[in-house]
Amino acid sequence: MNGDYILAVEGLCKAFGGLQATSEVTYSMRPGELSAIIGPNGAGKSTFFNLITGFHRPDKGKVLFKGADVTSWSSYRIARFGMSRAFQVSNIYPMLTTYQNVRQAILVQQRRTMDLFRRAEHLARKETTELLEVTGLGEHHQEMAGTMSQGDKKRLELALALAIKPDLLLLDEPTAGMSVEETHETMELVARLNREMGVTILFTEHDMSVVFGYARRLTVLHQGALIADGAPQDVRADEEVQRVYLGEEV
Ligand SMILES: Nc1ncnc2c1ncn2[C@@H]1O[C@H](COP(=O)(O)OP(=O)(O)OP(=O)(O)O)[C@@H](O)[C@H]1O
Ligand SMILES: [Mg+2]
Repeated sequence: MNGDYILAVEGLCKAFGGLQATSEVTYSMRPGELSAIIGPNGAGKSTFFNLITGFHRPDKGKVLFKGADVTSWSSYRIARFGMSRAFQVSNIYPMLTTYQNVRQAILVQQRRTMDLFRRAEHLARKETTELLEVTGLGEHHQEMAGTMSQGDKKRLELALALAIKPDLLLLDEPTAGMSVEETHETMELVARLNREMGVTILFTEHDMSVVFGYARRLTVLHQGALIADGAPQDVRADEEVQRVYLGEEV
């Protein structure tokens, strides 16, 4: 089943106590996709991300990434192998500056190289500056990360996720708490990363204008199960989707 797929998830299950947060989810992505996973609060979107990135162990099922079975790998190892994620709830160091946050992420990524070549310290400086520019944080580089606006914190999250140069990038509500303008800027950046740098991207989002404006494929989760998957317009028209979720919103 892998071959053409960058990600292939088979029959994934995860329960918390009596609650089935992920239920037999089978899902795959081809390289170059820009896709979204949607569903009401508690549908299991973040849990799905936690399972494929190694933050949670599935009770059952398999995760193949770039042809390798990564189901039992640590989150650190999966990240090193090229799957990165930005969190719904921020992962930044609030007492470090924006620059220090990004540089730290790059240094972690380069750790092995650093041991061998001292020059890497210098390279990290250049890469940090570039990444801050790309994500529109250049002018905030001296700012304490914890005091920035919610939108800038989300952008910093994105910069941290990009520090490992991922092949697959997972974004959990990348525009939550952003103004309309910040949302637009962030999603344009996401689209550019996909288009120009070839990063395969999967994001979750509650804002339907973002979902339909940017995702080329939509997957709907409901009570942990995948109930629809396909072109946005087809998913929008799907009766079950209308009934359980989109209803009045779309
Ligand atoms: N670590 C955990 N321990 C116990 N229950 C959890 C845990 N993580 C998630 N859950 C539960 O699993 C279900 C799915 O949660 P999840 O966070 O994946 O939903 P979501 O689709 O991301 O929701 P939202 O749109 O609000 O972010 C919820 O009922 C949640 O309370
Ligand atoms: Mg969530």
